[in-house]
Amino acid sequence: MTKEDTTAFSLQTREMFASIAPRYDFLNWLLSFGQDRNWRKRAIDLLDPIKNDCILDVATGTCDMVVEIEKRNLSTHIFGIDFCKNMLNLGKTKVSQNNFDNKISLQIGSGECLPFANNFFDSVICSFGVRNFSNIQMGLEEFYRVLKPGGKIVILEFSEPQNKILNIIYDFYFNFILPKIGNLISGHSNAYSYLPESVANFPNQKEFIEWIRKIGFKKVSFIELTFGIVSIHSAFKDT
Ligand SMILES: C[S@@+](CC[C@H](N)C(=O)[O-])C[C@H]1O[C@@H](n2cnc3c(N)ncnc32)[C@H](O)[C@@H]1O
Repeated sequence: MTKEDTTAFSLQTREMFASIAPRYDFLNWLLSFGQDRNWRKRAIDLLDPIKNDCILDVATGTCDMVVEIEKRNLSTHIFGIDFCKNMLNLGKTKVSQNNFDNKISLQIGSGECLPFANNFFDSVICSFGVRNFSNIQMGLEEFYRVLKPGGKIVILEFSEPQNKILNIIYDFYFNFILPKIGNLISGHSNAYSYLPESVANFPNQKEFIEWIRKIGFKKVSFIELTFGIVSIHSAFKDT
């Protein structure tokens, strides 16, 4: 992609999330049959935060992840960043409703150009975010840069089930049912048609391991959840 294409893609993505923001949480719950919360909880289990950890959630959206981390009450320092104001505003309300205003710092910004110093965070988490980046490698490089040596990344993303029969059922649901329901309820003509497209364009689990390794991360691995509908990759910055 040229620089102009990248900028146009980012703008389009931001506008798309801005327009689906009011229905985003409900649709997540509905279209994942309530599984999205469990997936995030499993990602936090893998992140394994400990007392005083400084944690960054990239593409924090409506803040479910940061709120879930804070609920573990570990005296961690949590930061969330997202480039879509409408998503983040809904997230801010959720943070306030949970009385976490003093515990979670939120800001607008791009995952591909993080406004944080080098070696700042103990861990970086990103759920259903990197797939939407205009330049995924640049995002991964930024995750690496802001992590302390030995720090951990955890990336939760959609993936395709390897089992052939499950894959046929999943394909039908993901490509035909989900876009119709999503577009109808969100009121956006193609946001939920973009979802299966973006998953199809995203590397499979083993390819993504290689992408992460290329940045310099070590001990890269993944686990599959819900028959491989989603996967969680994790890795460490070299010490
Ligand atoms: C599918 S939502 C995921 C939100 C949240 N992490 C979750 O688990 O529900 C994707 C989010 O990524 C954000 N996003 C996409 N590309 C981004 C980028 N390059 N920088 C920052 N945020 C980005 C969007 O604004 C949106 O809020």
